[in-house]
Parts: sequence; C-alpha cells; structure tokens
Amino acid sequence: MSDPATAVDPIRTAFISTAYLGAAVSFILGLRGMTRPETARRGMQFALGGMIAALAGTLVNHEVVAYQWVLLGLVLGSVIGWPLGMKVAMTQMPQRIAISHMFGALAASLVGIAEYWKHHLDGVALERPQMAALGFEVLFGALTVSGSFMAFAKLHELLPGRGITFPFQNAVNLTVFAGTIGLLVYLVVDPTATWAFVAMTVLAFISGFSMVLPIGGADMPVVVSLLNSYAGLAASATGFALGNTVLIIAGALDGASGFLLSVLMSKAMNRSFSNVLFGAFGSAPRASAAQLGAGGEMKEISLEDAATALRYAKNVVVVPGYGLAVAQAQKAVGELAELLEGHGNEVRYAIHPVAGRMPGHMNVLLAEANISHEKMVEMEEINDSFESVDVVVVIGANDVVNPAAKRDPGSPIYGMPVLNVDQARRVLVLKRGKGTGFAGIENALFVEERTSLLFGDAKSTLTRLVSELKAM
Ligand code: TAP
Repeated sequence: MSDPATAVDPIRTAFISTAYLGAAVSFILGLRGMTRPETARRGMQFALGGMIAALAGTLVNHEVVAYQWVLLGLVLGSVIGWPLGMKVAMTQMPQRIAISHMFGALAASLVGIAEYWKHHLDGVALERPQMAALGFEVLFGALTVSGSFMAFAKLHELLPGRGITFPFQNAVNLTVFAGTIGLLVYLVVDPTATWAFVAMTVLAFISGFSMVLPIGGADMPVVVSLLNSYAGLAASATGFALGNTVLIIAGALDGASGFLLSVLMSKAMNRSFSNVLFGAFGSAPRASAAQLGAGGEMKEISLEDAATALRYAKNVVVVPGYGLAVAQAQKAVGELAELLEGHGNEVRYAIHPVAGRMPGHMNVLLAEANISHEKMVEMEEINDSFESVDVVVVIGANDVVNPAAKRDPGSPIYGMPVLNVDQARRVLVLKRGKGTGFAGIENALFVEERTSLLFGDAKSTLTRLVSELKAM
C-alpha cells in the first residue's frame, strides 16, 4: 500500500490520513493503559480500536484492486485467531505469543520478498534506501520466523526445553549473523544482486534457529519478548519500504515495547541481557538439594492444623506462583481470603515480577477472582515487612521464594530478587509433590523448620481448606 499522499482522491486521502492518525494515537493510548492492571482492559480496547482504524484506512487505499483475497485472508485469520485467543490456557500464553510473532514476521518477510521479486521480474532495480528498508525487513522477519518457531517448539515441549549447546557456539552464531549483515550491506550497494538476497534470507533464517537453540526454558519468555521486538522492527521496515506510515509507527511501538519488556524481565531475574542471550542459563545442570543446602525433609501438615494456623493469624500474605495458574485455583484463593477477612484477619498478596510465565500473570489471575488490586502488593513494597507476617501461604510458587537466590552464590538463580518469605513467622506451602520450579533447582525454604507442606493440587487443597475453616 502506498502512502495516502500518493492516493488520487482527496476525500479518500483525508480519510486514510485520519484513520492512520487515529490508529497511531489509539495504539499509544493502548500501551499506556496496559501499564497498570486497573486500566489494562481499557488499554486493550484502545488497541483494538486502533487496529480497526488501521485496517479501515488500508482497505480504502486505491491500490487495493481485488477485495476477494483480502476477505479470504480476514476469514482465514479469524478462523485461526479466534480459537487461539479463546481456547489457549493462560499458562500456554508464552508459546501462543511466540507463534503469533512467527505469523506476524512471516507476513512481513513475504511482503518484502514479494516486493523484491516484483522489481526483479520487472527488471527495475530498487533504489538504495528502499533496498536498505526492504533488506532489513526480510532479514529481521526471517530471523523472527525461525526464532519464534524454535521458541514455540521449546515452550510447547515439542523440542527439549533446555538449551542445546556445542563448543564455540557463540562464535559460530555471531559469524552467521555477521555474514547476514554483510550480505545486506552488499545488497544496498548492489540491489540487483539476487543471489545475495536469497543468501541473506536463508542465513537470517538459520540465524533465528541458532540464536534460540542455546537458550533454555526459564529464559524463553525473555527471548519471546525480544523476538516481539524484532517482529516490530521488521514491520516498521516494511512501512518504510512500502511508504506506509501506520506500519512504521505500529512497528516502532512494538519494537520499543518488546525490547523494554525484555530488559525489565532480565532485570527482574537479575540477569544481564547478554547473559540471557549468550549465557545458556536454562541449560545449567540441575544442582542437587544437598549442594544448595536444601537437604532435609519436607514436613507435611494436616488440613485441620493448617486451617487453625490461618484462623488465628492476624495477618496473612498469599504468594501466588505458576502452580496457582496451572491449578486454576484463583477463585478458591478468593474464597479463602474472604473467609479469613470475615474473621477480621488481614489478607494481602505478594506479587513477584516474574511469578508465573509472563509479566502480570498473577495480577491477571487474581483479578479474575475479583480480588482488589489494592491488596496485591509488589515485591519491593512488601519485602521488608515479612518478619511481621504471621502466616505466608505459598501457592504453587517456587523459584520466586527460593532463598538460594540470596544465600547461595553457586545457585543458577543467585542474585535474582526473591520474596523474603523465609523471614515470616510461619510458612504454609501448597504444591502437588516434590517437584522443582522452572529453574529446576531445589528450594531450601520448603525444608525449613517454620515451613509446613500441604500436598495436592492447589485448587482441591484450597477447597478443602475452605470447608475446614467453615466447619471451625
Ligand atoms: P515455578 O518456580 O515454576 O514453580 C511452580 C511450582 O508450582 C512448582 O514447585 C510445582 O511443584 C507447583 N505446581 C505445579 N502445578 C501445581 C498444581 N496444580 N497445584 C499446586 N502446585 C503446583 O513458579 P514461580 O515461583 O511462579 O516462578 C516462575 C519462574 O518462571 C521463575 O523461574 C521465573 O524466572 C520464570 N520466568 C518467568 C517469567 C515471567 S515474565 N513470569 C519470565 C521468564 C522466566 P509441584 O510439581 O511439586 O507441584
């Protein structure tokens, strides 16, 4: 699609410009809304409105000559997208996002390849600036397609989730990537070099695979977010190549927000960005409990004793984690809290920035159970007050409460900020068995004197706990 400025009809031009401006403003308002849980829903509505405006502006462009293909695409996209949005479980969100990036990047790459090929067949060489934009689009698009597919396959356990490494891997990866960039530079100098275009596309595709290959499970959401940023850059470059302003803006917003999110996630895990990309963290050998000072037995407690401890605790802090999402126990937690609050106990929720499998995962889950946002306290705000907490209920959380991150320099998660649950007076942990968290390491908190375990699926345990409390 060309820029509205080149469209012939002034009314149509004005409509397209207005639609694109409205879309850009709505996207920005959407992103702003999504920075806070209370305004996130409104943010999504703005983003949806922006997308409708962008589509409307594009569809009336005079360069659209046949609508049947557009319609077919819309129907196909809806048939694939609707079930993806409605049916995929929250816990599968990272792989669902990865596959969406793959489709977005595939679209950008195919548009770039088609544009280059059209010029090649017409025997018209691209201008150098246009070649630079188009080459950038195809390079980042192809890299994102293969990288996102790898991330999807690992997260969905179609491939082993751990990082796959071999000697001199970083050197090999950097050489392949440098070769890809070299070919892009060559193409800018000589846009007619078709062989270089083909080679660059193939190498970029290989680069995506090789970039994600050494990255392991726990780092994968950071990588998915980085690939989101690449998909945004590819879309932005498409906008430059086609002279489409809304694509430039939306791509830039996507690129910047994806990059910032990756940086914030790395920070929340106390990892440098380069360490995530080149450190092969997820493939670290699993340390034994003894190595981590977690030697000892987990102490099981009866439901009756757990209910008594909660009933007589003045203040209770719930720490939700990935297991809460797996068990879909959010409503049961709400019910438990309501019951305790009815007895005059204070209940708060301690939110770790990377609890669960995506940013804001716990806030969204708890909001589903109508738990007020005021009761959800961020880690920095609550971390100094655990000493005065009577009972902490850890529900399906593991890595985010692992004291090895503070105490054990040999631990793969050493340095990651964690919730100071080990300082509370008493800790109740709800988990199914003796499974480890995402980082695959033991947790010394679970064998400490003050900690008691309630084994079983979190939802069923909470439901039984509620019945026990009601009967007291
Ligand atoms: P995890 O460390 O993954 O621990 C989850 C715990 O839930 C496990 O100990 C598991 O033990 C338990 N569990 C699983 N299913 C359960 C069920 N149905 N009922 C009760 N318990 C259940 O979770 P976390 O503490 O939330 O930590 C998140 C991890 O993901 C961190 O390592 C973090 O770095 C990583 N990560 C997160 C993000 C974002 S943005 N959230 C991004 C990158 C990485 P059992 O098997 O014994 O039940």
